Amino acid sequence: MTIEIPSELIVVLRNARHVAFLTGAGVSAESGIPTFRDALTGLWENFDAEQLASADAFRRDRELVWGWYEWRRMKVLKAEPNAAHCTISTIASKVPHVDVVTQNVDDLHERAGSENVVHLHGRLDHPICFACRRLHELSLGIPEEPEGGRRLAPPRCEYCGGYVRPGVVWFGESVPESEWKVAVDACRKCDVLFTVGTSSIVQPAASLPVIAARGRAMVVQINLGPTSLDGIAQFNLVGQAGVIIPALFDAVWGPSK
Ligand code: OAD
Repeated sequence: MTIEIPSELIVVLRNARHVAFLTGAGVSAESGIPTFRDALTGLWENFDAEQLASADAFRRDRELVWGWYEWRRMKVLKAEPNAAHCTISTIASKVPHVDVVTQNVDDLHERAGSENVVHLHGRLDHPICFACRRLHELSLGIPEEPEGGRRLAPPRCEYCGGYVRPGVVWFGESVPESEWKVAVDACRKCDVLFTVGTSSIVQPAASLPVIAARGRAMVVQINLGPTSLDGIAQFNLVGQAGVIIPALFDAVWGPSK
């Protein structure tokens, strides 16, 4: 299948000094990591995402919540970066400045070699104490897989004895200020903003393409289907990120391999 990359986009990318990516769960889907909402179909059909991803949910049933996040962390530990992560990392060798702003709590951008990665929603591998918020160091190795729905007791904080919680941003919590500032700055200054594999419905991340479009950036969406961003993006490239991004790289800079 030939993927049409608009010629205007090719020209802008060849001359770009600063490219930013805003990525969501779809960028890791081809690595076998379920997207956030799809993750709840099947295994978690009895649970609502928001019932698992809030401080109240942790207070109500911390073993259910910790078990669910350990299951997700284990999936990430076993996964490998895919062609989308790898090509985004390679683009940094062609453009003077590349920022990666991700809503994902995995570390696949980093493992693909990307630098300047900002995690708006935290990281699965950076759990913190629920009480004193100190970072908790996880033991190395792949944890035992908690089967879907199996409760798992969270570790205790070595400083204050509090319960350790996942290091992610939950519903009702704010995106970390320093990460948000970097993200807004990247969107204001970049020549091109790619939004990749995000449904663009969760705020405040969903407002970043709007900020970029109001500024000087060309906004380009890469997604399997339509989203609310379609009207804002100058170009909508429809298909798998792991296919579109390498095709885009080849069209702009020539074959990467
Ligand atoms: P979603 O699960 O909402 O959306 C994933 C998007 O990726 C969808 O629009 C899919 O069409 C698209 N997609 C799936 N596979 C793809 C592929 N191979 N290539 C390209 N696109 C693909 O995930 P997010 O938008 O990341 O927040 O969700 C945002 C936030 O909602 C998450 O970070 C999470 C959740 O609440 C927190 O946990 C705080």
